[in-house]
Amino acid sequence: MKRKIREIGRWLRVPLNKRHAFQRLREFHAAERPLDEIVRWAMSFGTKGKFRVKTTQIPSEINRLAAEVAKLQPKVIVEIGTYEGGTSLIWAQLASARMITCDISPPGPRGQLIRAFPPPGSGCKVSILTGDSHSADFAARVEKELGGAPVDFLFIDGDHREAGVEADYRTYRHLVREGGIIGFHDIADKQDQPGNEVQHFWKRLKQEAETQEIIEDRNQTGFGIGIVRV
Ligand SMILES: C[S@@+](CC[C@H](N)C(=O)[O-])C[C@H]1O[C@@H](n2cnc3c(N)ncnc32)[C@H](O)[C@@H]1O
Repeated sequence: MKRKIREIGRWLRVPLNKRHAFQRLREFHAAERPLDEIVRWAMSFGTKGKFRVKTTQIPSEINRLAAEVAKLQPKVIVEIGTYEGGTSLIWAQLASARMITCDISPPGPRGQLIRAFPPPGSGCKVSILTGDSHSADFAARVEKELGGAPVDFLFIDGDHREAGVEADYRTYRHLVREGGIIGFHDIADKQDQPGNEVQHFWKRLKQEAETQEIIEDRNQTGFGIGIVRV
């Protein structure tokens, strides 16, 4: 009952939170921002309720990943795992043509904000796809959305179970162009969130692919970013 009441409250606050969120986006877009500033905004955009935008990251790790992605001068970025759109905000500043973000949960009102993420004058079109990334139908939708355009950067941050992350890698890696990169979140050896098993797949993947690890502290629990070069 309490949960239902809280949810009703969130819906009632949508108009107010929407106005505030678009105001924050205008502030964000008002200046050309260096990558570390973009990352700071993505980690704490300052919006609320159904317009909350946030990513939980170790700043040094996500900054290094964003710098690797920027080096590619990417046209097309695909992300699996939108959640509250924090990393989508970063990719939408970097992709010049397309940013496709996918999640099993619908984005709700936040979707309007995410579609407006690219900076003024950018040619980047944002698509938000809702569905299970492991289903063949969904993979076909992603391919259709790309219309044959090669992907420069694929970010795999959806299902964190070992079989889930492996399925995402095997299903979508062929979309990434030669020289492009695939990023994985939560590869550090120690993970304390139940269901975080990316590290087990990552250990196997290192045997078969050219990889790079971005881990702030080898003894840390959680986080850690892995990169595969295609
Ligand atoms: C860790 S969050 C993504 C965080 C986001 N990339 C960020 O850092 O701002 C993982 C997301 O993956 C989504 N997800 C889990 N399993 C999925 C699946 N099979 N297909 C698509 N999305 C999935 C969850 O709904 C969740 O929103």
